[in-house]
Amino acid sequence: MIKLEFLVGIFLLVILPENIKAMSNSYWEPKQTDSVDHIRDLLSKMTLQEKAGQLNQYSNFSYTGPAEENQGEASIRSRHLRQGLIGAFLNVHGAENVRELQRIAVEESRLGIPLLFGFDVIHGYKSISPIPLAEAASWDLELIRTSASLAAKEATAAGINWTFAPMVDISRDPRWGRVMEGAGEDPFLASQIAQARVKGFQGDRLSDSHTLAACAKHFAGYGFVEGGREYNTSEFSNHTLFNTVLPPFKAAVDVGVMTIMSGFHLLNGIPVSANSFLQKEILKQKWEFDGFIVSDWATVRELMVHGYTGGEKSSAEKAFLAGLDMDMTSGLFLKHIPTLVEEGMIEEELLDEAVYRILKVKDDLGLFDDPYKYCKGEKKSPLSLAPKLQSKVLQLAERSAVLLKNRENILPLASSGLKVAVIGPLGNDKTSPLGNWRLAAKEDQATSLWEGLSQHQATNELTFSPGVRLLEKSPAFSQAAVINVSDTSGMADAVRAAEQADVVILAMGEHGMMSGEGRSRAHLNLPGLQSKLLNAIHEVNENIVLVLNTGRPLVLTDIESKVKAILLAWHLGDHHGQALANLIYGDATPSGKLPMTFPRALGQIPIYYNHYSTGRPSSANPRDVFHSHYSDEANEPLYPFGFGLSYTTFSYSDLEVKRILGEETKVQLTIKITNTGPRRGREVVQLYVKKHYAETVQPVRALKGFQSVLLDPEESGKLTFTLTSTELGYYNAQGNWKCDSSPFTFFIGSNSNAKLSETIQLDFSSSEILPNQHENH
Ligand code: NOJ
Repeated sequence: MIKLEFLVGIFLLVILPENIKAMSNSYWEPKQTDSVDHIRDLLSKMTLQEKAGQLNQYSNFSYTGPAEENQGEASIRSRHLRQGLIGAFLNVHGAENVRELQRIAVEESRLGIPLLFGFDVIHGYKSISPIPLAEAASWDLELIRTSASLAAKEATAAGINWTFAPMVDISRDPRWGRVMEGAGEDPFLASQIAQARVKGFQGDRLSDSHTLAACAKHFAGYGFVEGGREYNTSEFSNHTLFNTVLPPFKAAVDVGVMTIMSGFHLLNGIPVSANSFLQKEILKQKWEFDGFIVSDWATVRELMVHGYTGGEKSSAEKAFLAGLDMDMTSGLFLKHIPTLVEEGMIEEELLDEAVYRILKVKDDLGLFDDPYKYCKGEKKSPLSLAPKLQSKVLQLAERSAVLLKNRENILPLASSGLKVAVIGPLGNDKTSPLGNWRLAAKEDQATSLWEGLSQHQATNELTFSPGVRLLEKSPAFSQAAVINVSDTSGMADAVRAAEQADVVILAMGEHGMMSGEGRSRAHLNLPGLQSKLLNAIHEVNENIVLVLNTGRPLVLTDIESKVKAILLAWHLGDHHGQALANLIYGDATPSGKLPMTFPRALGQIPIYYNHYSTGRPSSANPRDVFHSHYSDEANEPLYPFGFGLSYTTFSYSDLEVKRILGEETKVQLTIKITNTGPRRGREVVQLYVKKHYAETVQPVRALKGFQSVLLDPEESGKLTFTLTSTELGYYNAQGNWKCDSSPFTFFIGSNSNAKLSETIQLDFSSSEILPNQHENH
């Protein structure tokens, strides 16, 4: 009899899905009603603690056994999980791990609300694409989108349903190591890239099992930390906030980004996690953002350290009342919000609104229909399943590299008859090309430059010699990444190899773990003994091609004249070596353009192309002292924003700018581009606009459009750009959109120094301003 009952039990368990509910005390069951009703129904059943629990995110939780068997933090979390007091985890990944925690939440907690699992899927999950700054240098929105969608496919197969990307912080300061995570200095380019990345991660339907929720971060202005020092405070004007910092966030919100992350810094003296102007007024009210805002790591607790609050409870209260919805890792929302509601300091309705936002994201992901949809069992890497996508990532890597210099057309190299010496500490490194933020990748999975060159079909004679070392120890997550080494014992061997070679390929720069979070630098030279090695090589061989590995612009002024070519490789991910070999031998032609200015000197920072005109711009007279300049350095950078050479050349002609008559003021530009060089090549054509005067001063020029064109030798193409008040307006100091009449100059060309231009007067009446732009910051 007992046996029969047991068998029937098993039968019911396997056959009937509702038995998840029957077997536990959990409320969870596949959603029967529509989303809003379902969430409202849940809200009506939740205690204050359970509501605050949804606002609570814990990190890396592995212990799932009975709470009483374990002491300390893990036991608290285990208990909280079963009590329904956790809304999300981060840093838990792998389908099995996720499934077990999801099972406890769904089957053992009273209401069975599924969890979110967040992870920093920044430029890939296991398979690694170029670092985001490198991808930005491709200016190829379609490939960038593909890269994000690929990352989403892999990550979701491993249980992750939420990525903390894209980072959309504009930065003009390469000392800040996190520039590697963003799209550079320009709000227009960064906005387009933000949208491509959000669309790539979230796909067309968020409820698909291969898409995940994106998170635009760090709201807002983290790229302006003073001195480029990580976690530092920040100081910038409203003018900068509205016109430079916010546009990429607005762009992400416009394409439906599900979540936003705050940051570690300040705006107007108020930490951003407790800044109601940013979170409530701008994001939730003006922009009508209906997803949720998560703090950055422990920033609610850090409000006390900033000197903004006097204790834990007021930190929770201030951050929550300022619009923050989820507390990442400080546990203070869970600890204090129920009491704050009971004491009448927080209205329960407000708490309900925050919970609603979080549950809505869970619902949009489809978690109320199937909480296990992201952890059905780890699938194979989609890269191995999808060779087509794999080749796209290789193409993206090729397009991300930027050719900064190519004297005597030393590149591309002939594929036979040459003795080529590959020299430098990064020449055969299989870790560095992965860059920072590759938490689930294997330590040495990238192809190194040496491997790429050796596997290439070219028949040149190759040698490799590292010359010097860059790191003392394994770089991952340790300070070792910035330790310089003093061992010169390998230099003689490298110099000998250079002496005997026709061409030297120098693989130098920063190791991939020298940029990223917590990796600010006060010096932007080649770290360690690399300059010394470069000088020694230059003494014996002038045919030097520098393959520059870096996560940020470096100051190359001292070494630039000693090399014939500079190929900016960044950290190109899994296909680093292969992409570089294809570029070096000309199977691919460089077309990348800088998304960030390369300064001539450290003292020029912050340096960016779209600055304002001073009242005393540079003077042609060398004896003139009283104008805006340095007495010991030029104002201009070494390489400007948008710059990048090709193996072919392009000429621009026949620029026509005309106003199109109609209801709205529109400008149409046409331009003819001709490939005047010997090879097929892709050119990223850039359009910059200068508005001569306005209510607040305007940049000397600002990017307002770009298109790429692929041309054969002697082939011409004609491109058309159309601009409206969307591109021609700006935000005034109050954050109101303006588009007033003025002469406008349109510059078109291959970088931000483009000379070809035309000026026309444009008159805007207020009726021509797009209505939604009146409202939006
Ligand atoms: C801190 C970083 O600032 C943020 O960007 C990241 O997403 C979180 N840690 C979680 O890892």
